[in-house]
Amino acid sequence: MMAGKGLAVVTGGSSGIGYQLARIAVEEGYSLVLCAHGDDLDKAAGQLRRLGGEVDAVRADLSTRHGVEALWSHLQGREIELFFANAGLALGDPFIEQKWEDVADRIDLNVKQTTSMIHKVGRVMRAQGRGRILVTGSIAGQVPGPHNAVYNATKAYVNGLAWALSDEFKETGVTITCLMPGPTDTPIYDKGLEDTALHDMPKVDPDKVAREGWDAMMAGKVDVVPDPASRLVSLFSGVTPKAIGNRLNEMMAKRRD
Ligand SMILES: NC(=O)c1ccc[n+]([C@@H]2O[C@H](COP(=O)([O-])OP(=O)(O)OC[C@H]3O[C@@H](n4cnc5c(N)ncnc54)[C@H](OP(=O)(O)O)[C@@H]3O)[C@@H](O)[C@H]2O)c1
Repeated sequence: MMAGKGLAVVTGGSSGIGYQLARIAVEEGYSLVLCAHGDDLDKAAGQLRRLGGEVDAVRADLSTRHGVEALWSHLQGREIELFFANAGLALGDPFIEQKWEDVADRIDLNVKQTTSMIHKVGRVMRAQGRGRILVTGSIAGQVPGPHNAVYNATKAYVNGLAWALSDEFKETGVTITCLMPGPTDTPIYDKGLEDTALHDMPKVDPDKVAREGWDAMMAGKVDVVPDPASRLVSLFSGVTPKAIGNRLNEMMAKRRD
């Protein structure tokens, strides 16, 4: 496979939705910078190379400014065709019982450093006069999330940022699309949401979610909610009273006693 279409950068590309987005990028002929911070990164990069990809694996903790700078130093001076702002994590349990360090870490990862990367890449793409950004928000950002409250709130921010930037960038040749998945079958549920209904419920395959996100990004859409059931939840979220939304989402995210 030729990597002749230029560079795609995927944050959180070692598993789940990000890995599937990276796989599509390789299959479509993009070379890849794949960023994550855990042990799965090298395995994921190896799998993508076996698919024919030209893959540069960058290990960086994207919840920190230092990690963003490490990734950025790999990208300095390079043109970027596609950017997937995808790295993110949930945080289960009642807010008041969570450690502040964990709360701050999620806000740093999902909000602050994600915004920092979009700002940096956005400037490069604006100067190029072309580029496409896919930001992984969530339908969780459209509903209240007791027992996962900070996560839902960070995703409300991410959705809102992407929607507004899609408009601000519209005369620049750069598109920004928000991918808003519903429950998707990825390891995110094994990182603090074990023993919940959310963990055990049926979920959409990440390759399907990534494909819908990819197609929406390539079509320059403002956003996309993959999967018909998630689209229904998204549709009703705006008109469902908060008290009902709170109960439904608590039932999903609360740990079983
Ligand atoms: N799964 C769902 O139901 C769902 C629904 C809506 C939205 N989303 C969003 O989809 C995105 C991807 O999540 P996923 O479901 O695919 O879960 P996942 O498989 O756990 O992927 C998360 C990715 O983010 C990376 N990551 C986490 N913390 C990081 C850090 N500090 N620095 C660098 N990379 C880090 C992980 O790499 P390491 O393992 O190396 O940390 C991994 O590659 C997230 O933004 C999530 O909020 C997921």
